Amino acid sequence: MHTAFLLPLLLLAATAESLTLKPGCQPSCGGVNIPYPFGIGQGCSRAGFEIQCNNGKPTLGNISDNTQVTSLSVTPRPEARVMLRVAYQCHNSTGAAIDNYNGSVDLNPTGVYRISDTANELFVLGCNTMVITNSIGCVAYADNAKSAQDGACAGIGCCHVDIPPGLTDNLMRFMPHAKQEFCPCDYGFIVEKGNYTFRAQDLHMDGSITSMPLRLDWAIRDNSLSCAKGYSTCVSANSECIDSTNGPGYFCNCTKGYEGNPYLDKGCTNINECARTRQEFPCYGKCRDTDGSYECKCRVGYEANGDPKENICHPQFPFAARLALGIGLGVFLLFGAVQLAIARIEHDKRKLAVQFEKNGGNILKEITEVTIFTEKELTKITKNNSEPLGKGNFGNVYKGTLTDKTVVAVKSYIKVDDARRKEFAEEMKVQLKMTHDNVLKLRGCCLQLDVPMLVYEFAGKGSLREILHVKDQSLPVDLRLDIAIGSAKGLSYMHSKHIRHGDVKPDNILLADNFVPKISDFGLSKVLIVTEYFTQNIIGAISYIDPVFRNTGLLTPKSDVYSFGAVLLELISRKPIIYGKTGSLIIEFRHIYETEKSGKSMFDLGIVAEKDILILEAIGKLAIRCLKEHQDDRPDMTEVADQLVNLKVKFGRYLTGEYACYSSGVSGTSDATLSMQSSTLEVSGLLCSQPMNQAGS
Ligand SMILES: *[C@@H]1O[C@H](CO)[C@@H](O)[C@H](O)[C@H]1NC(C)=O
Ligand SMILES: *[C@@H]1O[C@H](CO)[C@@H](O)[C@H](O)[C@H]1NC(C)=O
Ligand SMILES: *[C@@H]1O[C@H](CO)[C@@H](O)[C@H](O)[C@H]1NC(C)=O
Ligand SMILES: *[C@@H]1O[C@H](CO)[C@@H](O)[C@H](O)[C@H]1NC(C)=O
Ligand SMILES: *[C@@H]1O[C@H](CO)[C@@H](O)[C@H](O)[C@H]1NC(C)=O
Ligand SMILES: *[C@@H]1O[C@H](CO)[C@@H](O)[C@H](O)[C@H]1NC(C)=O
Repeated sequence: MHTAFLLPLLLLAATAESLTLKPGCQPSCGGVNIPYPFGIGQGCSRAGFEIQCNNGKPTLGNISDNTQVTSLSVTPRPEARVMLRVAYQCHNSTGAAIDNYNGSVDLNPTGVYRISDTANELFVLGCNTMVITNSIGCVAYADNAKSAQDGACAGIGCCHVDIPPGLTDNLMRFMPHAKQEFCPCDYGFIVEKGNYTFRAQDLHMDGSITSMPLRLDWAIRDNSLSCAKGYSTCVSANSECIDSTNGPGYFCNCTKGYEGNPYLDKGCTNINECARTRQEFPCYGKCRDTDGSYECKCRVGYEANGDPKENICHPQFPFAARLALGIGLGVFLLFGAVQLAIARIEHDKRKLAVQFEKNGGNILKEITEVTIFTEKELTKITKNNSEPLGKGNFGNVYKGTLTDKTVVAVKSYIKVDDARRKEFAEEMKVQLKMTHDNVLKLRGCCLQLDVPMLVYEFAGKGSLREILHVKDQSLPVDLRLDIAIGSAKGLSYMHSKHIRHGDVKPDNILLADNFVPKISDFGLSKVLIVTEYFTQNIIGAISYIDPVFRNTGLLTPKSDVYSFGAVLLELISRKPIIYGKTGSLIIEFRHIYETEKSGKSMFDLGIVAEKDILILEAIGKLAIRCLKEHQDDRPDMTEVADQLVNLKVKFGRYLTGEYACYSSGVSGTSDATLSMQSSTLEVSGLLCSQPMNQAGS
């Protein structure tokens, strides 16, 4: 009796499973379905897709860390959801690391899995913590135990960033830092987007959170085949091959109108759209399923304005009836609309007043020289944000044109929370007072929106990063020198006004039409630095950050000098900041300098003239000084600017034959000979003097 009752059920189950499973294989483990190409045991899976099932716990086979699986899917997206342990590093009261787990797990021994870059993000918890996984990381910072807030993962105690594609390891590198008693442990983990919400108490994770769910993309990656190169795995009829976007290889999908398992013969079967919900397969009329699609028609006597898959079917009224109805409805609607509009205007007015106040309008009202644009004006200026210029650190940037035809850049900022709103306005006040040719001018702002919008002068040539690495444009050495001088002057001016930039990098040095450099994104960085800046996807940007700042959290003018040194290196080498075996242009350059006493082998290959090389050599030496580990060993920004100006002056005299220049220690001329001459000037390793015959006369 028992078996008789069970039999039909089993049969039913078998027919349903035959679409997703190899015959005779275990369909699930611990409540997790195991569709082919996954499988448990010999002959049940494709090679590399083995799943182990021990005591009702499914784990990814061949992966050392017994990675627990919570779900496996084949279509519509090839995904595996797994749990990985959280990496941490704990310190004792003297700041020494006493306990740690680095999270390392090789997800790629069988060449199948990649951590999904679209479905996950990296979180870092701690009080002065920088964690890097491969090339990305972020900094969580807090100077007392109470500053971290539940739900706010924006730098204080917690930060998060997007991850790049191609990750196969969960390894976290914790940067060393000073001791912080209220924060004994740092944590780093990749987690499925939307699953984790920061809680201040998690800074003292007590063992209740030990692992996090994350999504892996999987694909068939044998011999790195792509769809174009031919495939034999998408065996079902009505299946298609799709190239992987996360790592090499491809995967299969059922074509539109079919569902099931494309990896099995006859695995993709027709969808009966009519039996599904309206949301999934809309139809406002009578639905009829067809092979691979469905038909939708209005009943007799009814019609739709267009396709009944999108529009309601209504009775075919005579024209006069429709007209009467239309007029009646129109009058009714018009009346309603006027009422609504009046209410709306009242509401908007009230809302605007509140917004203005919220965004620090009262502080800015004191400043007379700033133009305060209304939301409407800004919409007009930017043609409703129709010309995006790019994404800045804190929000989007759009091109705009003022009524007097001046071109401007309008930046929308991230939402500023209540606590920081006043600070934001104060900082804007500071920015408005900055008047220097090499500092991007703030022309006005708009505070009526939820997010502040700032109007800046427009720099037509784009950022130094684009000029150096994106546009394929020749850059003569004297132009590079001018860009270096202008940028140094701009930063030096800011420092003279007690402003630290905090985020010096080629993206933030903009170039006007005549290549005059303009320092941008400063000041506000001070306010936002711990909240939003580090939470951007900062692939590369970490490399510009002064290690002293990283370790102490204290931003000094010398931190800007360090970052500027990195910019100089990029300017003379035209190489990206992430470069070479060590992944750091700075380390590679230092190494070359130590071994060869010259940076020549790393200079931009486009620069060949002997005189040009001399200039680059001098800038390189200055950069090396800026990049000194100890802040005291670095020049200040004024000295950097002066040195660069001197270089230009001497370069000019050199070109006119008034001076002869040598790079000290590089050219064949001995330093001793040169330094004996009273007219010798030394700037950053470039020795220049009046030629011998003239000096004697
Ligand atoms: C902290 O750890 C370091 C290294 O293990 C050790 O030398 C030091 O004595 C420890 N300090 C305390 C207070 O336990
Ligand atoms: C991570 O930790 C494991 C074991 O603790 C160790 O074998 C491995 O070398 C570490 N990996 C790195 C890159 O530090
Ligand atoms: C994975 O493990 C299975 C046994 O569990 C073994 O037969 C297979 O060769 C391994 N595959 C790889 C690629 O190491
Ligand atoms: C996060 O994932 C865990 C493990 O699967 C689950 O129990 C929890 O409900 C998820 N939380 C959210 C907010 O999605
Ligand atoms: C697979 O096909 C379905 C149905 O056509 C589609 O919705 C889904 O986006 C496809 N998946 C991928 C990864 O392209
Ligand atoms: C501006 O664009 C938004 C969405 O992009 C749109 O909703 C709005 O109607 C547009 N406004 C104007 C005045 O064009």
